[in-house]
Amino acid sequence: MKEYWKLWSMNKHHYLLVRLAIAILFVGFAFWLFVSRSSEFPTGLESPLGGKEQMAVPPPKLSIEIPENEDQMPLDVVVEKCDLLTGDWIPNPLGPIYTNESCSLIESHQNCMKNGRPDSGYLHWMWKPRDCKLPQFDAKKFLEMMRNKKWALIGDSISRNHVQSLLCMLSRVEQAVEVYHDEEYRSKRWYFPSYNLTVSNIWSPFLVKAAIFEDFNGVSTSEVELHLDKLDKTWTDVYQSVDYMIISTGKWFLKAAIYHENDTVVGCHICPGKNITQVGFVFAYSKALHSVMDFIAKSGHKGLIFFRTSTPDHFENGEWHSGGTCPKTTPVKEGEIEMKVIHKLLHDIELAEFEKAAEKAAKNGVNLNLLDFTNLLLVRPDGHPGPYREFHPFAKNKTAKVQNDCLHWCLPGPLDYWNNVIMEKVING
Ligand SMILES: *[C@@H]1O[C@H](CO)[C@@H](O)[C@H](O)[C@H]1NC(C)=O
Ligand SMILES: *[C@@H]1O[C@H](CO)[C@@H](O)[C@H](O)[C@H]1NC(C)=O
Ligand SMILES: *[C@@H]1O[C@H](CO)[C@@H](O)[C@H](O)[C@H]1NC(C)=O
Ligand SMILES: *[C@@H]1O[C@H](CO)[C@@H](O)[C@H](O)[C@H]1NC(C)=O
Ligand SMILES: *[C@@H]1O[C@H](CO)[C@@H](O)[C@H](O)[C@H]1NC(C)=O
Repeated sequence: MKEYWKLWSMNKHHYLLVRLAIAILFVGFAFWLFVSRSSEFPTGLESPLGGKEQMAVPPPKLSIEIPENEDQMPLDVVVEKCDLLTGDWIPNPLGPIYTNESCSLIESHQNCMKNGRPDSGYLHWMWKPRDCKLPQFDAKKFLEMMRNKKWALIGDSISRNHVQSLLCMLSRVEQAVEVYHDEEYRSKRWYFPSYNLTVSNIWSPFLVKAAIFEDFNGVSTSEVELHLDKLDKTWTDVYQSVDYMIISTGKWFLKAAIYHENDTVVGCHICPGKNITQVGFVFAYSKALHSVMDFIAKSGHKGLIFFRTSTPDHFENGEWHSGGTCPKTTPVKEGEIEMKVIHKLLHDIELAEFEKAAEKAAKNGVNLNLLDFTNLLLVRPDGHPGPYREFHPFAKNKTAKVQNDCLHWCLPGPLDYWNNVIMEKVING
């Protein structure tokens, strides 16, 4: 989808090159798929998932210690001490609770099974918090609990990736009915008739007010105009009417943008030729998140609000538009992989702004929670579609060079365990 193209940022040095590459890609995308245009991309890349890695191999065993007495721990102790977000992926011979056959809501770019991803080991892992047990996702229980409730997942395409996972897991009990979509099919709403439960996915990639100048194909025609002190009404308009919310943002802030505060230009990020001070995305991200958090902390909202941190990507040897790939087929061990510099910058700001707001929120009786899935995702370079964002990308040419997606996540896949964690947090706080 075109959002993919928009999502990935442009770093200063590659900006013009990237713009050119995007333009070329979209003008001749179909053409490019089938005809070799490799001269536009760095040469010498190996075909991802080529050779013996294409065989479906059973997941190798990682050595993991599970405390023997975990089941005997009294529940209140578990609840109090347990950090659901520190743990390990352990083998799960049963595999996922839904498939491309049982769920019809998986977007084609994330439908790795349907798209012919040859290995299936990535499906056979489950998240195990180190100090306690994470119950299986119980769709029936979730739906019962959420009778007459409204959920909203707010953010960018990762948020959409997540909503599909949630709907697929719930669809084992009841199929969600789509009841709304906006003109561009970016915001959607689903309804579970027997439970009077509404789940919305609200497209708001910056959370703050933004004018995005992109053509139909997602090619930027000008810098984003970003108002760091004004929130995007797409989500604030529904804010008070939903009971549960998961709010997130992230990578869109890496885009070229002109920043405004109090309707005055205060700086920019990547704006050559403009007489505006380069202040960088760190400045903007802090300010924007501060505005978002401040609004939430003072809102008097009576429901449960999760702020989800941004997610890591696993592009190797390049990025979206420069031939980056993610060929791993198994999780890596903790410590074998480090947060990328940019992700760490975003993540640090997210934690800092959350911490500041959490105190204020608590004083005001607002239930603001953090969902930081970094530990779960950082060790899952195997969970991305890679070349299998397209239907059978190597059907016509086994060594074709295809665009890889190492940012979004295959469904089923690692994101499904977000729902286990969220359910546990909803139940036990
Ligand atoms: C699901 O994926 C399998 C391969 O894993 C494929 O054979 C099948 O056609 C797919 N089904 C649908 C409905 O996409
Ligand atoms: C469905 O839930 C909404 C609140 O989300 C409530 O206002 C409405 O009355 C419920 N409808 C039924 C039929 O229970
Ligand atoms: C915002 O701008 C207006 C005029 O443009 C000015 O009067 C006001 O003091 C400014 N507010 C802040 C907080 O800077
Ligand atoms: C750039 O902006 C500064 C301050 O606003 C101004 O003094 C200067 O004349 C501008 N330069 C150009 C080339 O527009
Ligand atoms: C397959 O793709 C590779 C890499 O783009 C290219 O060099 C080769 O000529 C293609 N083969 C065919 C038969 O199109």
